[in-house]
Amino acid sequence: MAGEKRNIKVVIDDVKKTYQGRTGEVVALNGVNLEIAENEFVTVVGPSGCGKSTLLNIIAGLLEPTSGRVVCNGVEVKGTGMDRGVVFQQYALFPWLTVKKNVMFPLNMKGIKGQEAEEMAMKYIRMVDLEKFCDHYPKELSGGMKQRVAIARAYAAEPEILLMDEPFGALDAQTRTQLQQDLLDTWEREQKTCFFITHDVDEALILGQRVIIMSARPGRIKDIVDIDIPYPRNQETKMSPRFLELKNYIWGQVYQEYLEVRK
Ligand SMILES: Nc1ncnc2c1ncn2[C@@H]1O[C@H](COP(=O)(O)OP(=O)(O)O)[C@@H](O)[C@H]1O
Ligand SMILES: [Mg+2]
Repeated sequence: MAGEKRNIKVVIDDVKKTYQGRTGEVVALNGVNLEIAENEFVTVVGPSGCGKSTLLNIIAGLLEPTSGRVVCNGVEVKGTGMDRGVVFQQYALFPWLTVKKNVMFPLNMKGIKGQEAEEMAMKYIRMVDLEKFCDHYPKELSGGMKQRVAIARAYAAEPEILLMDEPFGALDAQTRTQLQQDLLDTWEREQKTCFFITHDVDEALILGQRVIIMSARPGRIKDIVDIDIPYPRNQETKMSPRFLELKNYIWGQVYQEYLEVRK
């Protein structure tokens, strides 16, 4: 994409976030600045507690920054919006709705009803390989299956911006690999803007065009690494010399921050 002029989709402008902790103020984020281009795929890594989820929730409009602002599509974020779809670490399904109804829910919210909503929902339920379970309730599914429903639900609403907080973290290796591949296909086909948090450096590298490395608390952007490995990427990419070189570098950076946290 070098040299290509790209529209800016998300602007994170000097964002600071403090929480009132039990023993006083916790500065979760300080001075975070980032621009994400339309159709860009950025992945975010950093030690636990460095503010990754906080940042994602601020972009989603679920949390307000203490100072600074986030602008999506040229409009300052003041709350949630249909332009942004979120997948959390922990599936957040409606227990009283079937798989299909869960996935249809955001479509109904967008005014898409009936057969059209059902067809759109089924397309993504098939993608996560849960067609046989479409009339089941969440309590009848394993944790991994529930997470796949949450992923289908986020994709089905076809948001322009996908915000994903360690969405594959709790899944087994095969499912994770399959969903990484599906996400890359979805991204390439539908040209979404993706902001994807992971604690897995391999995952950050296989997915992202840029990897954002965050520092220990208070969370700041420590480094941004361009991943100059062409798409389509697949499991073999993980064996390439360039991949291993970048992995070494990023791993070293993250490990330094992990040691900071332990001090
Ligand atoms: N609601 C809250 N109240 C107080 N402190 C919080 C709250 N949410 C998060 N924190 C603190 O803010 C920091 C960043 O948290 P978080 O964004 O969840 O980090 P990460 O996702 O990188 O693990 C942590 O130190 C965490 O303990
Ligand atoms: Mg988190």
